[in-house]
Amino acid sequence: MKVLVYSTRPSTRETFDAANQSHRHELIYTEARLAPETAALAKGFPAVCLFVNDTADAPALDRLAGEGVTLIALRAAGFNNVDLPRALDLGIKVVRVPAYSPHAVALILTLNRKIHRAYARVREGNFSLEGLMGFDMDTKTVGIIGTGKIGAIAASILKGFGCRIIVSDPYKNEDVAKFAEYMTVPQLLAEADIVSLHCPLTPESHHLIDAGTLADMKPGAMLINTSRGGLVDARACIEALKIGHLGSLGLDVYEEEADLFFEDLSDQILQDDLFARLLTFPNVVITAHQAFFTRTAMDNIAETTLKNIDDAAADSYPNAVGSESFRLKKG
Ligand code: NAI
Repeated sequence: MKVLVYSTRPSTRETFDAANQSHRHELIYTEARLAPETAALAKGFPAVCLFVNDTADAPALDRLAGEGVTLIALRAAGFNNVDLPRALDLGIKVVRVPAYSPHAVALILTLNRKIHRAYARVREGNFSLEGLMGFDMDTKTVGIIGTGKIGAIAASILKGFGCRIIVSDPYKNEDVAKFAEYMTVPQLLAEADIVSLHCPLTPESHHLIDAGTLADMKPGAMLINTSRGGLVDARACIEALKIGHLGSLGLDVYEEEADLFFEDLSDQILQDDLFARLLTFPNVVITAHQAFFTRTAMDNIAETTLKNIDDAAADSYPNAVGSESFRLKKG
C-alpha cells in the first residue's frame, strides 16, 4: 500500500525501511506534522502513518478523506490525537500498536536516587552526598492509575522491588488483582507515596491531576506521568512543588509538548514559561517523550504498524481502536 509517513526522523526511516523489507509497502516519508494545513500532502495516498504529536482533528480528517485517505496507521499506543468518531463517520479506519516498554520505572528510580543530580555533580568534581538521600523502594506504596498493558507491567516490576501496589482502573485486570489492591482514584491518591499514570487521555481524564487532586496526594509524594501530557495540569504541579507538597515529579510527556519535543532547540530561546519553570526544580526530571524509544520497541512498532497495513489491505483490522474508545466512553 502507498503510505505517507508523517513526523519522521532519521531513526523512524531507518527502522521502517528495515522492517519494510518483508512487507514491501511504498513508504514516503515527510518530516511534516499532520495538521489541517499539511493534510494535502496525503493526496493520492490511501494510508497515512501518524505519531503522537500529529493532529488528526476533524478539519485534518476532513481534508485527509478529501484526498482519498481511508486508513490511519498510528505508530503509537495512545490515540487521543485522533478524533475517532469523525474518522469513523468519514469511513477512515484507525489502527495502532498496542504497547511497548515501561519508562515510568526509570523515572521513579532516577528521582528517588537523584541520579540526574549525582551525574552532574561527579562530572564537576563534587563528590558530596548532601541532598542525594533516597528511600528504599520496599518501604513505599505505589499507586498505578490505569492497569492496561503498560500499567500492568509497571505494577509487576514495582512489585518486584517489594513495593505495596495499589491500583485504579474502571476495568479490573485479573492478573494485577492477584498482587495489587483495586480502589478509587481518591483512595489511591490518599495512600500512595508514588503515583504513576498509565491511563489514556480522554475528555474524562483531562487534568486528572489538577490543584484539587494534587492536594489530595500525600505530602512529599512523587508523581510520574509517562502517558499523555494532558492528564496533568503543569501549572498546578508548579504551585504544589513550590510549597513542597508535591515531593518530586517525573514527566515523559507534557501538555504543550508538540512545539518542543523531538526537535533540537538547544540554540533557541525557550518560549514556554511553564516548561522553563519546571526545569528549574531539582526534584523534577523531564524526558522528551522517549518511553517508547528502545531498539526492541522501535522494531516492534515498525513491524506491527506494517502488519496492521498488510491486514488493512486484506480488510482485516485486529488492532483497530474504534471499539476500545467507545468502551472507554461508556466506562
Ligand atoms: P491500554 O489501553 O492497554 O490501558 C489503558 C488502561 O487505562 C485501560 O485498562 C483503561 O481501562 C484504563 N483507563 C481508562 N481511563 C481511565 C481512568 N480515567 N482512570 C483509570 N484508568 C483508566 O494502554 P497502554 O498500552 O497501557 O498505554 C497507556 C497509555 O500510555 C497510552 O494511552 C498512551 O497514552 C501512553 N503511552 C505513552 C508512551 C510514551 O512514549 N510516553 C508509549 C506508550 C504508551
